[in-house]
Formats: sequence, C-alpha cells, structure tokens
Amino acid sequence: VSLQGWNTFGIAARARMLVRIRSVADLQQVLAHEALRRQPMFVLGGGSNIVLTGDVRALVLKVEIKGLRLAGETDRAWIVEAGAGEVWHEVVARTLAQGWPGLENLALIPGTVGAAPVQNIGAYGVELQDRFHSLSAVDLVSGQPFELDAAQCGFGYRDSVFKHRAPQLAGGEGKALSGRVLGMGLAGRALITHVRFLLPKAWRPELGYLELERKRSETGIAHPTAQQVFEWVCAIRRAKLPDPAVVGNAGSFFKNPTVTPEQCRDIIARDPKVVHYPMPDGRFKLAAGWLIDACGWKGKTVGKAGVYDRQALVLVNRGTPEDSVTGGEVMTLARAIQTSVYERFGIRLEPEPVVV
Ligand code: EPU
Repeated sequence: VSLQGWNTFGIAARARMLVRIRSVADLQQVLAHEALRRQPMFVLGGGSNIVLTGDVRALVLKVEIKGLRLAGETDRAWIVEAGAGEVWHEVVARTLAQGWPGLENLALIPGTVGAAPVQNIGAYGVELQDRFHSLSAVDLVSGQPFELDAAQCGFGYRDSVFKHRAPQLAGGEGKALSGRVLGMGLAGRALITHVRFLLPKAWRPELGYLELERKRSETGIAHPTAQQVFEWVCAIRRAKLPDPAVVGNAGSFFKNPTVTPEQCRDIIARDPKVVHYPMPDGRFKLAAGWLIDACGWKGKTVGKAGVYDRQALVLVNRGTPEDSVTGGEVMTLARAIQTSVYERFGIRLEPEPVVV
C-alpha cells in the first residue's frame, strides 16, 4: 500500500499491510485475529507529524473513527467528544458553529483529532491541554479499552506519554496496563479512539500572541467573537505556513529550545535581535525559526528537501509526486541545520515530528 497520500510530507513510502479502523469494533477484530494480532503495529492518523524514512514493516492501523457530539454539560462547561479520525480543523469549525467556542486558536492545524493529544498541539497561546477533558484508547497489547485524564496523558510542550516508548513491553502479551507502564510511555502501545474537550461557557478570547494583538489593532475590533479569532488565526497561518495539500511538510520541524538566563544573555550579547520569551520557570524559550533563519537557511534546498521561504522552521518537499523527497533527504537537511545552529549558538535543536 502506498502511504504517499497519507503523510502530509508526501513521501513515497509504502506499507506491507494497512487496515482502516472505522470503529472500536474494527480494532477489536484486528486484535482478535490470530495472525494480525502478532504483527508489530503502527497507528496512523492524518500523517501530518511524521517523517517516513523507509517502508513501514509494521501493520498500519489507519484511524478513521468519526463522530462529534456533546458528551456532557455542566453549569460551567461543555464536554464535547470527537472521534479520533475526524479532521482536526473541521472539528474546530464545527464546534464553533454549534456554539461551543474554545478551540479557535488551534484552527488550521493539519492532522486528525487522535493525533492532537500525542504531541499536545499548540498555537497562538493555546495548547490542547488547556481544552482537554479526557480520552478513550485501546491497549494494543491486551485489547483492553481505557480512559486517561489530562494528568495521566503527561502533557508537556509538544509532548505526552504517547511520544514515549516503554522499554521491553511491546509484545509483552496480556500484561495489564498498570500505572507503571503508563508512566513509562504508551508509544506503539495505545490507539486513541475518542478525545473529549472541556470548553468553558465563560469564553474569553485568547489574544496574548503578538500577531493576534496586531490583528486586533489593525481591524479596530476590540472584542472579537470566537469566529473572528478563528478567521484571524486562519489568515495568519495561511500567510506564512505552507498548505500541505500544495507543498508537502509536517509543520514546525524542530521544537523551540529553552535555555538558562545565562545562556540567553550570552546569545543576546552576540546577537541582540534573537527572539526570546521568558518562561514561568525562569528559563527562556528561543524561536528556533529565528535561529535557523539567522544561519542563512531560509529558502535553501538540499536535494529535494527545502527550508520554507516564509518560515525557516518548516521543512518542505521540493520534489514532485512522481519524484518526491525521501525521508533520508529530509533528515540529511535537518542534521545540516542542527549542525550549523549548534556551531553558531551552541544549541541543539530537537526534531518535533515523529521519525519513523
Ligand atoms: N522567525 C524568524 N524567521 C523565521 C521564522 C520565525 O525570524 O524564518 C521569528 C518570527 O519573526 C517570530 C518568531 O521567530 O518572532 C516566532 O515565529 P512564529 O510566530 O512563526 O512561531 P514559531 O515559534 O516558529 C510556534 C509553533 C507553531 C505555531 C506557532 C504559533 C513550535 C515548534 N511551533 O512556531 O506550531 O503555529 O508558534 O503559535 O512550537 C507546529 O508545531 O507544527 C507549529 C506549526
């Protein structure tokens, strides 16, 4: 099976076998199947945060579980549940149309609902964890369904338990999913089936991000509605991030690094313009895009891998569908960027997408 249409980079990798999972029952069937259940498995959502460096030998479980409903309501909040296979941006738009605001700052992020908790997606001052209630998943080893609340998901900056692999547990058939296993990580072990959002009724716009503040002063709209914020976010993203349907990419390729106040001072002394933000713990977050840009990478191409010309943090596919970039080329470019940022700033950039 070709995976080219199922990863937003448009990398032409293949899978030996792929099963489309449209319901929890579909998944239970796979997990009850004598031959299939013994295969290593790889969970695929929208393919918007992966770099495929070769063909996938594992059984690919493509999550297509749909649905959006009000799962609960209190005086203070709506609890909205979405199937993991729903397209993220459509869920944002539909919740707004239903009168359940709160996800608008996360508009236009590529990918599916099920992938959102994996990397704790975030943009324009809001992270998924700020609007998260709980999720349902199935343990791929035991077949048991389970639920996790926000604390159990271990959310961090572009991070969660779903990005960490517990050692030696893959294939440990029958082992119950204990708190210990959870703490070590669920990568490769769990398939998220539904995600529930907690959307407070006392809605307030989140406009702390500089570019949103700029929209507010440009338009003179002091008190925007959630729909207005949604439209601003879409406009900002369209102006500087490539549409994966047009130019293959996986969003930001590196995490924004954090440094100590001393390191930050050193860098400012040499490069006064470095973009930096103070964090609650006293450290500073640096804009990786600025660091890469400062090293002269913006718009550069190596092989068929390129650095986007309007946002240096985004690596893009400069090939064609017939002759697409390979995961190897993307990683070669990524390493070259890491080396030059390290040589100039002494900072090690960490890739953000999952390298498969
Ligand atoms: N900058 C440059 N040159 C560049 C790119 C950026 O000088 O080529 C500067 C910008 O001028 C700005 C600063 O760096 O002052 C930060 O840039 P931007 O506002 O575009 O945000 P970012 O830090 O690069 C992060 C997230 C994005 C998210 C935006 C908006 C990460 C790794 N990336 O990007 O998330 O959309 O903020 O909140 O945290 C993603 O994770 O895939 C993603 C796209």
